[in-house]
Amino acid sequence: MTKIRAAITGVNAWVPEYVLTNKELETMVETTDEWITTRTGIKTRHILKGEGQGVSVIGTKAVQGLLEKTNTDPSEIELVIFATVTPDMLFPDTANLVADAVGIKNAFCYDISAACSGFLYALTTGARFIESGAHKKVLVIGADKMSSIIDYTDRTTCVIFGDGGGAVLLEPSTDGDGIIDAIHRSDGVGAQYLYQKAGGSRYPASHETVDQRAHYVYQNGRPVFKAAVTGMSNVVTQVMERNHLSIDDISWLVPHQANKRIIETVARQADFPMEKVMVNIHKYGNTTAGTLPLCLHDWESQLNKGDNIILTAFGGGFTWGAIYLKWAY
Ligand code: UT7
Repeated sequence: MTKIRAAITGVNAWVPEYVLTNKELETMVETTDEWITTRTGIKTRHILKGEGQGVSVIGTKAVQGLLEKTNTDPSEIELVIFATVTPDMLFPDTANLVADAVGIKNAFCYDISAACSGFLYALTTGARFIESGAHKKVLVIGADKMSSIIDYTDRTTCVIFGDGGGAVLLEPSTDGDGIIDAIHRSDGVGAQYLYQKAGGSRYPASHETVDQRAHYVYQNGRPVFKAAVTGMSNVVTQVMERNHLSIDDISWLVPHQANKRIIETVARQADFPMEKVMVNIHKYGNTTAGTLPLCLHDWESQLNKGDNIILTAFGGGFTWGAIYLKWAY
């Protein structure tokens, strides 16, 4: 029997209009365009402004465009998975809100939270439902409104993150393309270096948690940087080795966009020339679960059927992984 694989048959992404520049950040915290550019590679990031605007706005825009461009009727979608750490509310899941906004009525919908690895985890999860034969059309969304949990008085985090994201459509394929292999890892030791302390069941919102600024992202950058480089380099090398792939076989490495220096180090350690590495961090900053679909969307016109692509990500948890796929169109 021919193996059913989950193929990405469409991608779309969306970022909000407002652009927060390094120059504007210079007026908000003690920083410089020079520091941000040399230490992170980021020039601008997009911010979702306006009362009552949650991450569902980003997901909805991305999905509306995706359904249109793939000529998909909302009634055909059977499953929606939304990867995010900034859901509109703790419940209901944002996947439900997006489905409702775009008219998806015949699907089950839920969120996945794996921080910056969220899209990667969600993609593997969605793929399993296709491979098993359970579903024919699955939407996987990765998006974050990081500005809702960033402390704009903390220069160590506020210069890095931005809002945005995207979505892919997964469908069964039997002609050899689609998601071929995935490696996923996590290590709870990372919880001490990257977290949002309050707002969950351990420290529910109170005057005290607000006064302590405990609803914002805390990051100890250096240990995260090191673990990100080691983690992504290892899984990229492993997924290539076990699929007998050389650098020449791979068209694109698609890394999570957390820091240009991390991307360059991972590429160097895995022997990838930078011409084969997708980098758009200068435009969007780190959009957490949004970075990978934003890359696929920005490079879509350069991708060809049969291209071998490796996606990799690293994030809070720690969580990390790599997916090897063949582009399907
Ligand atoms: O996506 C999820 C996973 N996250 C990541 O992968 C992020 C990993 N970490 C990083 O990307 C980097 O560690 C950062 C970009 C967060 C920080 O860069 P760094 O080169 O590791 O800087 P550092 O934290 O070691 O700080 C160096 C100096 C410090 O000053 P002192 O102590 O040497 O006087 C910081 O206070 O740079 C200072 N600094 C800044 N200076 C100007 C930190 N942030 C800024 C800033 N502007 N925005």
